[in-house]
Amino acid sequence: MLERMEKIEKPEAEDCHIFTGSIDPEVPGPKWVLQAEKLKIGYEKDKPLTGEMSLRIRRGQKIAVIGPNGAGKTTFLKTAAGLLPALAGRFEMGQNVFPAYFDQHSGQIDSEDSVLDHFKKHFPALTEKDARHELAAYLFRGKDVCKQVKDLSGGEKARLVMAELLNERPNLMLLDEPTNHMDIAAKETLESAFKAYTGTLLFVSHDRYFIDKFATRIWELRDGHITDFRGGYKEFSAWRERQTLVTQLEKQKEKEQPKEKKPKPERPKNNDKAIARLEREIQRQEEKIAELDKLAEQYATDYQKLMEIQAEKEELDSGLMELYERWEELNA
Ligand SMILES: Nc1ncnc2c1ncn2[C@@H]1O[C@H](COP(=O)(O)OP(=O)(O)OP(=O)(O)O)[C@@H](O)[C@H]1O
Ligand SMILES: [Mg+2]
Repeated sequence: MLERMEKIEKPEAEDCHIFTGSIDPEVPGPKWVLQAEKLKIGYEKDKPLTGEMSLRIRRGQKIAVIGPNGAGKTTFLKTAAGLLPALAGRFEMGQNVFPAYFDQHSGQIDSEDSVLDHFKKHFPALTEKDARHELAAYLFRGKDVCKQVKDLSGGEKARLVMAELLNERPNLMLLDEPTNHMDIAAKETLESAFKAYTGTLLFVSHDRYFIDKFATRIWELRDGHITDFRGGYKEFSAWRERQTLVTQLEKQKEKEQPKEKKPKPERPKNNDKAIARLEREIQRQEEKIAELDKLAEQYATDYQKLMEIQAEKEELDSGLMELYERWEELNA
């Protein structure tokens, strides 16, 4: 099982920048940042991309939205940003939420200005020294700041925009594939910035190294609904793998033994006290296991809790096997 888990080994870049302090929003904002209630998203009323979704985002969460191409991730983020109306239900921002939104076009800036001038126009109060200092943290070092924006590569433009967005100190960042076209050093710099960022982050990415670095929660948008997974990418991918395996095994079992149930010990013919006691114990154990199964369904997306339930179940299972064996011995 372990070997089958997806390995996440991050490539190392020497020339990236690691943020050591925290990047704090100008104002912390409310406890509940975004709330979706019975929300359906899409473009045509009679063809929603999703069923009803009810979700909420708490201050400080860092949520990665993942899912297959065309699932509706960009549509979801645009609806969250208020750029697209909901097809049904609501998607509401809390009071005093100051969002920054980055979509795939945000990085397409074109200007005769130098990198330094472009940055300073956004932050006129900054001294040249401070502006250079900020830009250096996003890998525009030395002569880089004199380059004209129009001559930057796609990845460099996106990096400049991201530096400007983060320096605005929003308390919510909605980002659609922010690392597209970026090289490894730029990606790792951004990873570090998002790790240092203490605001709320809702971002779409296909890059599992990037997601794994700082996402605390995974929302998988697939087949018209979101699975809310409370954990990082590694745990998510292990959980997904297990889910797939369990489904496969169940299908296989159904094929092999269509209606056969787990064999249960038959009622003993004699009325020996020891056997009766054993049977009561077996029944109690079976009930406990059934309760744990129900609990596991309830916590289907909570990795930590599932592991605890699983461990408890395994213990009960092995105890139950012993009870069965003893019962068979007594009835032999
Ligand atoms: N402006 C639009 N009008 C109508 N349909 C659209 C529009 N934009 C996207 N769609 C459709 O909505 C669906 C979801 O698109 P969306 O861009 O949200 O997917 P995505 O999950 O972001 O995909 P990707 O991973 O490729 O970025 C797709 O079938 C797409 O063709
Ligand atoms: Mg998209």
